[in-house]
Amino acid sequence: MSLDSTWRLLQRQGIFEHHPAFLFVNPPADALVQSPHSSWRLYAHERAYQAPGTLLPSEQVSAHFEYTTQCDAAVVFLPKEKKLSDFILAQLAHQLPLHTQVYIVGPNDGGIRSFAKKAIPGFAPLQKVGSGNHCQLLTTELVHQQDFVAEQHLKKQNIVFQERQYPLAFLPGVFGEGRLDAGTAFFLEHMPASVSGRVLDFGCGSGVISYWLQQHRNLEHMMAADLSTLATSAAAHTLAACQTPYEVRLSDGFYAISETFDWIVTNPPFHQGKATDYEITSRFIAELKQHLNPGGQVVMVANSFLPWPNLLQASFQHVQTLAKNNRFTITLAR
Ligand SMILES: C[S@@+](CC[C@H](N)C(=O)[O-])C[C@H]1O[C@@H](n2cnc3c(N)ncnc32)[C@H](O)[C@@H]1O
Repeated sequence: MSLDSTWRLLQRQGIFEHHPAFLFVNPPADALVQSPHSSWRLYAHERAYQAPGTLLPSEQVSAHFEYTTQCDAAVVFLPKEKKLSDFILAQLAHQLPLHTQVYIVGPNDGGIRSFAKKAIPGFAPLQKVGSGNHCQLLTTELVHQQDFVAEQHLKKQNIVFQERQYPLAFLPGVFGEGRLDAGTAFFLEHMPASVSGRVLDFGCGSGVISYWLQQHRNLEHMMAADLSTLATSAAAHTLAACQTPYEVRLSDGFYAISETFDWIVTNPPFHQGKATDYEITSRFIAELKQHLNPGGQVVMVANSFLPWPNLLQASFQHVQTLAKNNRFTITLAR
């Protein structure tokens, strides 16, 4: 499904002409790039932007959004995760002015058809206003404001790995919610014993890798970074009881990270078949060297079909496969 399709449907229905200022919730990256009006205020759920696309300082962002500018209507790009869409709409029902019109757009294969039948607390019944390009556009209006407590959506779970318990925190839509991802488990099993010093966990999700490293390696400082405010909020909860000095940082790639590290560890993002998602990790690899101290090393796990080892070879003299199974490869570069 092309992300453009949802944007084109919104344009074809002319909704941008009806309202001067929109709150965009969970917009796809492509949609942001296409946004032609710098006066629009964009506030994404996973990425926080001010038009024309600059990131807001991370301290202004939390797991729930706090928009500060006037908005006449909201557009929600329906996420695939049901719990995340419930979470988003629960926030909107709390934070939007009464009678704000809300549009919900999404691809047919992303759950919008079943969503259209839902009753959403606080909102009038959903109405379909358009469809096309395998997408649907629904609308509703906020009729009763609701209470919202972000912490109620935080799930704490003891994940068992190698006979030890790891108390992790999750928020809706955070990677690996409620379980240990198979790639992450394989990564931890083969984590080099020499990981130490100042360490960056890029794309930290719930903070599972950072937490594990704090328990099993001798670190000086740990930085857990992710572009999702939900992930950084969950990671902050996961890491709260850790003894090693650490910081959780909201950053799109290295955008908000100027520091250098002795080790960078990552289970990096990707989605098969979407060019934009290959781009994130390709960009990350291209910028890696600038963020390593002399002698610094990077270790990553990924599905074996991904081209990361080749890309690493373009920047690093020494690239080595540390472990491989039928799905994943762990690569070390220095
Ligand atoms: C494969 S998950 C790994 C999560 C966690 N480290 C684990 O192993 O369970 C990749 C993570 O990268 C994050 N991510 C995606 N794009 C990113 C970007 N541009 N910058 C930083 N993190 C990003 C996602 O939000 C997600 O949490």
